[in-house]
Formats: sequence, C-alpha cells, structure tokens
Amino acid sequence: MSTAEVARPEPLPDFLGFTTLDREVTIDRLPVTGRIPEWLTGTLVRNGPAKFEVDDYRLTHWFNGLAMLHSFAFTEGQVSYANKYLRGQSYEAEVNDGQLYGKQFGMDPCKRLFGRHFAEYSPNLSDNTNVNLTRIANRYFAFNEQPRYLEFDPTTLDTVGELEFDGQIAGETSTPHPHFDFGRRTLVNYTTTMRDRAAYQVFYVPENTLTQHRMATVEVDEPCYMHSFAMTENYVVLVEFPVVIDQEKFVQPDKSFLECFTWQPTRPARFRVVDKREGRCTAVFESEAFFAFHHVNAVEVGGDILVDIAATHTPYETVLGLAPTEDQFDLSAYGYQVRRYTLSPRGGASRIGWEQLADAGVEMPRINYRGHNTRPYRYVYGLGHSPRSIRAMNRLLKLDIVNGTHSAWYEKGCFPGEPVFVPRPGASTEDDGVVLSGVLDAKAGTSFLLVVDGSSFEELGRARVPHHIPNDFHGQFFADLHR
Ligand code: CO
Repeated sequence: MSTAEVARPEPLPDFLGFTTLDREVTIDRLPVTGRIPEWLTGTLVRNGPAKFEVDDYRLTHWFNGLAMLHSFAFTEGQVSYANKYLRGQSYEAEVNDGQLYGKQFGMDPCKRLFGRHFAEYSPNLSDNTNVNLTRIANRYFAFNEQPRYLEFDPTTLDTVGELEFDGQIAGETSTPHPHFDFGRRTLVNYTTTMRDRAAYQVFYVPENTLTQHRMATVEVDEPCYMHSFAMTENYVVLVEFPVVIDQEKFVQPDKSFLECFTWQPTRPARFRVVDKREGRCTAVFESEAFFAFHHVNAVEVGGDILVDIAATHTPYETVLGLAPTEDQFDLSAYGYQVRRYTLSPRGGASRIGWEQLADAGVEMPRINYRGHNTRPYRYVYGLGHSPRSIRAMNRLLKLDIVNGTHSAWYEKGCFPGEPVFVPRPGASTEDDGVVLSGVLDAKAGTSFLLVVDGSSFEELGRARVPHHIPNDFHGQFFADLHR
C-alpha cells in the first residue's frame, strides 16, 4: 500500500451536515444532561445554510444553502430552542419558484442550475443572509457578504423585512464580521464599491442609530476578497489576501463569487492601515501571500499593531472550493495556523513576517470579545481537526497564545460548530465563563448544544435538539434577550 493510500482519510459516513433540514420547531425545554450553570441567562442565536436543493437540483457549495436561524434561550439551567428559515426574496424565489436569486458564492460546475434556473429578475445582491447576525439600535438583522440586511424578530425568529441604513453606502461586497468599537460606541465595517473606481468604503454606525457614516475611502486598482478585517483602538486594518476580484464579472448576477476570483500567489498580501482619527489610509505593509477567512484579534503595543489571523498558506481554491458533495473542511491539509503579523506604522520595514502563536490551528476563531477585543488577550476558542480522524473539523479547541498550547473537547462522531464564549457575570479572569457550541452528532443523527467550562475546558452539560442542525457559520449571544 502506498503512503498516499495510508494517509487517505476515511470518508464521512454521510453528509448529515449538508443535509436539508425542513422542520421548523419551537421547544420550551430541551432534555439536558450534565449541568448547565444557573447564572447562564440570555439567548444564543445562530445562522447558517439549511436547505441545499433548488427545485430538484442539489446545490454544490456549502455557502449557497438557504439561511436558517436557530435560537437557544437559557434560564435557570434549562434551555429552550426554536429554528426558522429567513424568508427573504432568495427564499421565495428558490422555494416557491425553484429559481436562484442573487449572486451565489460557489459555482455550479455544469452551469446546469444557472442556465436553467436563474431568475431573470435577479439583482446582483443576494438576500440569502446565511452567514452572521448582529444587533444595533435594538434591531436584529442577518447578513452575508453583500450589503443587504434581513431584519428578524429575535423571539419568534420571524423575518421582519429588509433593513436599509440611512445613508447606506451602495456596493457589491461587505464583510459579515462587523466590529464594535467600545470606546466610540460604534459598529464598524466596510463595503467594496466596484462599478466605477474600486474602493473599500470603511464606515461606522453610532450605537442607537441606523445611520452609516463614511470613515475612509481606500481606493485600489484591484479589489480583493476579504471575509473579515482587523480593528484596534485607533486603526482599521484591511488585510488584502491576493484573491483578486474581477470587477466586470462581479457586477453580473449570474457570476458566482468563485467565478470572479483569481488567486495570485506571486502578489503579496497587503495590510492597508486606516487611521480612524484621520479618516484615511496612512500605511501599507506587505507579506508573502496567504489566505484567511477570519481575523482573531488586533492590539496596539508600544506603537506597533499586532494583527492575529487564522491563516492558511494554501491556495484559496482548496479552502473556498467547499462542496457538500465532497470532503468537509480539512484544516490539517490547509495548513491552518494562528499567526501574528507585526506592523510598525511609525517606521520600520514595510515588508513584514509573522510568528505562530500556538501549536494548533483553528477555524471559526472567537475570543472573549467584550473584555479583550483590541486589548491584550491570552485565549482563542475555535474549531480544530483531530489528526487521525476523518476530514472534518471535529474538535473544539482552546488555545493559550501565551504558552503556545491548546486543550480540546472531542467526542467520536461529533462535529462541533463555532464556539461562542459567554463571560460569567462578575468574572475577573479572561476565561471565566462558558463556551457554547452546536454539535452535530452523526451517530445519533441529531445535534446538541454543548456547554463547556471556559477555564477548565471540561464539558458541563448538553441540551439535545430533536433533529440535526446542518453545518452553520456564526452566532451571537445576547445576555439581555429572553424568550
Ligand atoms: Co465568517
């Protein structure tokens, strides 16, 4: 037997994580095993694709599935649960008319779906807002990577309608990872315009308002695909991985994201530093090409900016070409590392390198955001890969970037989702709290909400859902939201 054959991982028994969930339920009390802390009060709302067929055709990319919300409400050690599809124009077109609507992320290799089914009335921007969600001015809304926002009722999960900001900057892409600037009390994000000269339009939304204000315009010759960005007290750092967007193609609705991208590994990654106080790009740094979906954190130390990223050296096609009909996410093959890039805006080399922060890589990184975003920190929670297992993210990890070590939660046949850290009220240490993760239990054919102690990283309890939850993306915990 050759080495390649030995190393080949066993295939998944089925693709439950990419199997459509039609059922929508509301359950007052999930069966709990173990013990969920009584202090844990509030609601975790998660977002992700849950329907993978249009008409009789199976979607070929994870990111294309229709958005479903899931909520887990905690009170006195008990958990209630509800799930519902977001019902926007994409949902109506795909479910009722059997047609695609709006730009898709992944491509259809045979063009069968686009050729036969693409709605003629479709705009470029999709409202299949299946990636993340947030709250501002007490309004809850979901979004994807384009500037469209679907508002929902956080208790019923009903879709309220499309939310448009006052002064909303028109554009083609945005990130599903806005930051919150706790000092200035603003939400910060950017939108890429590309109908004329390409530019990243960095904007902010003051707390308690729904108004976008332009912070800075960063003009570029060729825009790149960025799923998230870094923010410190005084800076926004846009890290352009060399996944270059073809602007002319991108404004056409029937061209998927992936059809408009080219990976240019000889081109450097560029760190574009926007000074919030000056409202302009004040420095650009370069490193060897790499790719990432997610930033971890960024901190200013002694005039330097430390940018920590869940990075991969692998050409983006491998990472972005995630097809539900093929393997799941194989982090070890993609060479994931948590890297720190150090930028010196006050002088020094514009060509920068990096250091590795821990002995395990993660995807879907999260931190104690309220306590430590833009500040010195020690712990990163994320999804990892068990080296001797099937090709999927099947471990929940806690990285200690001071010691460079990690601890893990693992159970055979289980596939955790993005961990969300919730601090204990009155906590005095960074990791005093719990980590919540929706876990797909392939053995049982159902999912459960896992509660892990943030400090010891031992399981505290779990609450089982009566169906499987397809692989989702991101969620947020709202301590003051009750059902
Ligand atoms: Co993301």
